[in-house]
Amino acid sequence: MSKGTDIAALRQEYQRLSLDVHDVASDPLTQFSTWFQEALEVEVREPNAMTLATVDSEGKPAARIVLLKGVDERGFSFYTNHESRKGVELAANPSAALVFHWMALERQVRVEGTATKLDHEEASAYFVQRPRGSRLGAWASPQSRMIASREVLEERLVEIEKRFGERDVPCPSHWGGYVISPSRVEFWQGRPSRLHDRVVYELGASNRWKVSRLAP
Ligand SMILES: Cc1cc2nc3c(=O)[nH]c(=O)nc-3n(C[C@H](O)[C@H](O)[C@H](O)COP(=O)(O)O)c2cc1C
Repeated sequence: MSKGTDIAALRQEYQRLSLDVHDVASDPLTQFSTWFQEALEVEVREPNAMTLATVDSEGKPAARIVLLKGVDERGFSFYTNHESRKGVELAANPSAALVFHWMALERQVRVEGTATKLDHEEASAYFVQRPRGSRLGAWASPQSRMIASREVLEERLVEIEKRFGERDVPCPSHWGGYVISPSRVEFWQGRPSRLHDRVVYELGASNRWKVSRLAP
């Protein structure tokens, strides 16, 4: 960015598509799958990249991007290090939020819910499909901890490579997945003059989804 760039003047008009409560599926996971498929069709780059927000034991929030690795009737799943900052925060408070932004479609999806750890068997089944380098990396990196230098990490990797040699690299016990079971999901479609369409699903009594329109 050059020194004179006026950030406040950066402006985009959204006009590709629209959204109404009558257009959407009766449950948000089906609606999400439809939008995700459309994101794939227009070749959004990394459509499964999502911002994950957690809170610490004092209620202070933190957010980072992780990759969605599955959607089913349980919710939205991703994989990480259970001993990372996010893992520690989710252990103390399982409330979490996710945000997807598919710019090419002028769309945002916001998810709020509760995280549950996937069992080790399910995480292992995914882990063994990952490239060997990523599997070794999961053993070598004490995610979120302070390290003195890049060299420390590379030395740890060499050690781990020696340890496993030609053998399979199993899923470490500190590595695994979470599924976020949603209680609120909002679909946002950009519209002209900032009069965007917002459709929200809220889980009510007897596990029924209530669908409403929100003001932009
Ligand atoms: C595009 C992208 C995808 C990422 N995917 C993951 C992921 O699936 N799992 C993960 O643990 N970290 C992923 N990261 C790294 C996280 O953003 C973060 O740096 C890391 O998980 C440590 O976060 P924490 O210290 O808050 O626990 C990704 C980062 C980017 C930019």
